[in-house]
Amino acid sequence: MGKLDGRVVLVTGAARGQGEQEARLFAAEGAKVVLGDVLDEAGEALAEELGKDRAAYVHLDVTSEGDWAAAVAAAEERFGKVDGLVNNAGILRFNELVSTPLEEFRAVVSVNQTGCFLGIRAVAPEIAAAGGGTIVNTASYTGLTGMAGVGAYAATKHAVLGLTRVAALELAAKGIRVNAVCPGAIDTPMSNPEGVDPAATAELYRKLVPLGRIGRPEEVAALALFLTGEDSAYITGQPFVIDGGWLAGVSLF
Ligand SMILES: NC(=O)c1ccc[n+]([C@@H]2O[C@H](COP(=O)([O-])OP(=O)(O)OC[C@H]3O[C@@H](n4cnc5c(N)ncnc54)[C@H](O)[C@@H]3O)[C@@H](O)[C@H]2O)c1
Repeated sequence: MGKLDGRVVLVTGAARGQGEQEARLFAAEGAKVVLGDVLDEAGEALAEELGKDRAAYVHLDVTSEGDWAAAVAAAEERFGKVDGLVNNAGILRFNELVSTPLEEFRAVVSVNQTGCFLGIRAVAPEIAAAGGGTIVNTASYTGLTGMAGVGAYAATKHAVLGLTRVAALELAAKGIRVNAVCPGAIDTPMSNPEGVDPAATAELYRKLVPLGRIGRPEEVAALALFLTGEDSAYITGQPFVIDGGWLAGVSLF
């Protein structure tokens, strides 16, 4: 028996990285998975690999109200309901605040923050109609602390935690739990766009992270599964840090 048997979960940014691993794990645990992304070729290929009875791909730019409405309609038509959402899509831009162009700041807000808001607004009524379910938002280590050089990104990830807490309060009576994952450094195309051999950065993470290595997207997927399934039935409104101990503090050893 799978941990998500009978569930229908929409995962944004599901074509690669953490979203891909969430889609794979959720499907393996019995869910029907709706994969949303702007990388249509990769998303279609993954849905095909997972199988037509288990997965469907929809073009979903999370900044578009129209795309959200179409994605929810497609999910209902294909699988009859939606009772889970993982707001995972995100973008990262490096810049000091005083050098950040307004357009860049707005672009990061648009995907990471507005996209999360639009997802909650579009999907929560469907989850309520299905009798309840879950929303997992993707914040970050930088949703709980600062990091120089990623001001726009950190601002949006703090905002995602605010949205998570308010949504949890507003949606609890409808049987919807809302939580957030806060990953540290995870080995995906976002953190490693050039596809550099992880061995080349191993020494950096050995020093930086108490557990001595970069995280794997499969590990974030396992946390998202916990927050989507019944094992977390009494948990809502919380941020869950998954960072190898990075946020625990400073060590001189
Ligand atoms: N990798 C890390 O170290 C790390 C750390 C903390 C938080 N996160 C967060 O985890 C989430 C997943 O990141 P990842 O590391 O897998 O990155 P990634 O770049 O590998 O994947 C992100 C996915 O989001 C999609 N996406 C981007 N803009 C979109 C849009 N407008 N609409 C729909 N999809 C869009 C991309 O096409 C891609 O498939 C993001 O929210 C990210 O901010 C990542």
